[in-house]
Amino acid sequence: MLIRNRRLRTNEAIRSLVRETIITPNDFIVPLFVVEGQNVKEEIASMPNYYRYSLDLLKKEVKELWDLGLKSVLVFGKVADNLKNNKGTEALNAEGLMQRAVKTIKDAVPEMLVMTDVALDPYSSYGHDGIVENGQIINDATKEVLAKMSLSHVQAGADFVAPSDMMDGRVKAIRELLEQEGYVNSGIMSYSAKYASAFYGPFRDALDSAPGFGDKKTYQMDPANREEAIKETLQDIEEGADIVMVKPGLCYLDIVREIKNAVSVPVAVYQVSGEYSMLKAAAQKGWLDHDAVMLEQLTAIKRAGAHMIASYFAKDAVKLL
Ligand code: PBG
Repeated sequence: MLIRNRRLRTNEAIRSLVRETIITPNDFIVPLFVVEGQNVKEEIASMPNYYRYSLDLLKKEVKELWDLGLKSVLVFGKVADNLKNNKGTEALNAEGLMQRAVKTIKDAVPEMLVMTDVALDPYSSYGHDGIVENGQIINDATKEVLAKMSLSHVQAGADFVAPSDMMDGRVKAIRELLEQEGYVNSGIMSYSAKYASAFYGPFRDALDSAPGFGDKKTYQMDPANREEAIKETLQDIEEGADIVMVKPGLCYLDIVREIKNAVSVPVAVYQVSGEYSMLKAAAQKGWLDHDAVMLEQLTAIKRAGAHMIASYFAKDAVKLL
């Protein structure tokens, strides 16, 4: 035998020397769910050990994240039903929950990189990411609202906005408004290849944002498509996205690699709520080794080409590293 591949696997020392992919705290963006109220830390039923925080407790949480070496967060607000309407007007409220959450985080940990989710679904009486007219989700009127929403978030102190709605042309609309208003250093992390996935179920529980009618297949991508993901992503880059994203994670690693090879901006992956819940449930039953499977999955996402991972496992993972 001239070649024995097992030589490089003999012990941990040689394995660690030749290891190609290493997970570090620098890899993570931590999704945060915020709610109104005082002293609220509610566990999300379908996401064991993941919580919604009121702003007073959010402070403590982001300090803890920072101390663990986690330096980026992605904020989602759970909006009260009485503030929802078809145009999502609450999204533009300078004193809205999201805007106050951004300020709260920046007050608690000024160096924390704050990203905000931009889409109408948590604010929409229909639970859709855009404005609804005659049962259709209207593209062009929606992108104007998303641009104003983004402006409101950066005015509150957000470093990056993350449009997750999949309307056409929204990155351009956001970029132009931010430039026009002088927010030239605000970033856009675009959910570029976002699929119409059934893995978002637990997230919609977390925000009470499930679509009231139909599904999201007229704007989110068909899981059967690959080439379309490249087209969407290249377009977002042309429109001014600084970071592009593939979502969900595990089922879409072929797309991640393909996009990574096709673009020269950083590629983010969102390991979504359903991916988190599946592992938590299997681990609770004793069917899978939680920590080992979690690290294997995160490593696979990074190996596929992710520069960064938005993950509900961020805290669990860095505590192990
Ligand atoms: C809102 C949004 C969703 C997610 C992120 N932003 C849900 C959806 O599009 O229905 C999903 C995140 C997750 O499942 O963890 N547009």
